[in-house]
Amino acid sequence: MSGAQMESTEVLLRVEGLRKVFHTSSGDVQALSDVSFDVRRGSLMGLVGESGSGKTTLGRCLLRLVEPTAGKVIFDGMDITRLDARGLKAMRKRMQIIFQDPFSSFNPRMRIRQIVGEALIAHGIGRSRRERDDIAAGLLEEVGLSADHLSRYPHEFSGGQRQRIGLARALAVEPEFLVADESVSALDVSVQAQILNLLQDLRDRRGLTILFIAHDLSVVEYLCDEMAVLYLGRVAEMGPSEAVYGTPAHPYTRALLSAIPTIDTARRCGRQILTGDIPSPLSPPSGCVFRTRCPHVIERCGEVVPKLTALSGRHQAACIRIGAFKDQERPVPEMLHLARLREEGD
Ligand SMILES: Nc1ncnc2c1ncn2[C@@H]1O[C@H](COP(=O)(O)OP(=O)(O)OP(=O)(O)O)[C@@H](O)[C@H]1O
Ligand SMILES: [Mg+2]
Repeated sequence: MSGAQMESTEVLLRVEGLRKVFHTSSGDVQALSDVSFDVRRGSLMGLVGESGSGKTTLGRCLLRLVEPTAGKVIFDGMDITRLDARGLKAMRKRMQIIFQDPFSSFNPRMRIRQIVGEALIAHGIGRSRRERDDIAAGLLEEVGLSADHLSRYPHEFSGGQRQRIGLARALAVEPEFLVADESVSALDVSVQAQILNLLQDLRDRRGLTILFIAHDLSVVEYLCDEMAVLYLGRVAEMGPSEAVYGTPAHPYTRALLSAIPTIDTARRCGRQILTGDIPSPLSPPSGCVFRTRCPHVIERCGEVVPKLTALSGRHQAACIRIGAFKDQERPVPEMLHLARLREEGD
């Protein structure tokens, strides 16, 4: 197999130099700047970053629910930023997104049968109501609900069950790629774990490729094969999860990880408290956007925009000081103590 062929089977989605500027009355919001990454076919990729870092905007740009200002989104070899309305409709059957709170997107007066059936009708799936009901029942079972639920209304379900209904509706069109936008952040941890396990099962069973958007790095660690860390509209670090978690390189990733109280992360990163707020995307800092909160900042950080640099394999980070500060950081004894207490409590 040639290099190009190998690439076409491995990479389902390629993002190149993606930029999104929102023009608002208070100025131009730089929501995404020069974002590039690949999503490998059949992988579960996590996208993390603080509120306002551009995660939802990125997820929406991938499906062109938000129009990118510049850059390419290449899905299975096709640049979707160039598709006309018809091409886009066909593409949307292959790419689906589920949102933070699926309840808000359900019509409360519709039964689950109609909610899932609507998606089937929109894409011409199922010839009769009977056939669509059968398909919908199968989908509900696939997401851990049952056919009995078809005649119920959204308010009759728990938050976790509503997530599952949203998932069933997204799966109705048999997509190849799914963006799950923080679909579990509002739920408690055990429910989150169940949904995440379900996504993993679906990935394995259906060969789905999933981009999972989350605030919480501890959740993503156990779930995702690959991950990308976004800060103020730029990728700070990305790569296979073991690499990003095992040997985090960017000061921002290290700070995020050190906030998770486990023995492991405390050992890897020491404790770093991120101070200050994320700067306004109306006037992002010059050079490295993280420099205003970085414990390792030097003058040059204000002068050059750091490029993503390969560390090992696909692991990359965008920082001009990588390697210069790793050894200065030591685990903080009380963090280890806290982690031990937690473990004993389990
Ligand atoms: N339609 C819009 N018009 C103007 N600005 C927008 C619009 N949508 C998003 N933004 C801005 O773009 C930036 C990125 O927003 P986005 O919603 O993508 O962040 P996020 O990472 O998803 O945050 P959260 O974790 O809170 O969901 C923010 O500064 C936001 O205010
Ligand atoms: Mg968001």
